[in-house]
Amino acid sequence: MKILVTGGLGFIGSHTIVELQNQGFDVIAIDNLSNSSLSVLEGIEKITGKKPIFEQLDLRDKLAVQNFFKLNDDISGVIHFAASKAVGESVENPLLYYENNINTLVYVLQELQKKESANFIFSSSCTVYGQAEKMPITENAPIQPAISPYGNTKQIGEEIIAEVCKVSNINSILLRYFNPIGSHPSAEIGELPIGVPQNLVPFITQTGIGLRKELSVYGNDYPTPDGTCIRDYIHVVDLAKAHVIALKRLLNKNNLEKIEIFNLGTGTGSSVLEVIAAFEKVSEQKLQYKIVDRREGDIISAYANTDKANTILGWKAESTLENALESAWKWEKKIRGK
Ligand code: WQD
Repeated sequence: MKILVTGGLGFIGSHTIVELQNQGFDVIAIDNLSNSSLSVLEGIEKITGKKPIFEQLDLRDKLAVQNFFKLNDDISGVIHFAASKAVGESVENPLLYYENNINTLVYVLQELQKKESANFIFSSSCTVYGQAEKMPITENAPIQPAISPYGNTKQIGEEIIAEVCKVSNINSILLRYFNPIGSHPSAEIGELPIGVPQNLVPFITQTGIGLRKELSVYGNDYPTPDGTCIRDYIHVVDLAKAHVIALKRLLNKNNLEKIEIFNLGTGTGSSVLEVIAAFEKVSEQKLQYKIVDRREGDIISAYANTDKANTILGWKAESTLENALESAWKWEKKIRGK
């Protein structure tokens, strides 16, 4: 079975391709290389022994998308990762986000709508919940007005998919990720750092390796046990495995509705200071950090209620925070030649 993975050379896309190939799927990866590198293909091959078919293609080019699907009419499922994902950048450059995250989704769905039937897995985010009232967060927690164009593109994307599924032969599963971290245990693939990391864990590992002087902890005056924000940090390999399970659910027509939604997290919340302590434990070194002002737009706490994914998908995150940080640290040392 041939599976299309858009954004396939990205952080989560590349880890998902490994799991797809491990399960015997043939994969064709599309990526415009705006936030990834061709070297990821070698990394995937080193892990699975197979290099996915790769097409460098920008999904913003409608004609190119149409031609791609004309030439590849044997695709059984699509996992759609291709999107820009930096919250801060989306505030500065909203139109880049609406074009890259929405237009591309529309062009792919337009091609799938032409098919007898189509299976579509969408990369969504817990960001759609904003600051949820109740913890842990369930899939029917209310969607709050987005606080960034990035978050808005995920909400709009979910709405577009829901409406299209109603009037087409597309079946879809929306996967709402919490905070993906870590790298494949082989350290052959991982989060490719471009510029100064916005996210906590890559900044921690770059500080640990000496690339950054110190970590700035954005506020310790939140209403949480230690004053720092709480998140649900999920190992990217656990996340990747969930995508294959969701895809198989659609391929085997086990889905109960045309569109299903699942939260993907560990179900455990960890504060920034707890992540720092866990990193110090796995790296066996102190981390330099200082407490600074809060970051605009940060929510206080978010961690997943994973009952639905556990019971319906039969999926549960296996890695602990420490496992995930160990893999992130191993990857950081590998890419810095340490
Ligand atoms: C986590 C915590 C920061 C950096 C974002 C997006 C989300 C998803 C994941 C794409 C927060 C604190 C961070 C630093 C810090 N992206 N922090 N110092 O903001 O929860 O989620 O990335 O899908 O959609 O919103 O992740 O890693 O940026 O921050 O103190 O240098 O770490 O304040 O509490 P976030 P993050």
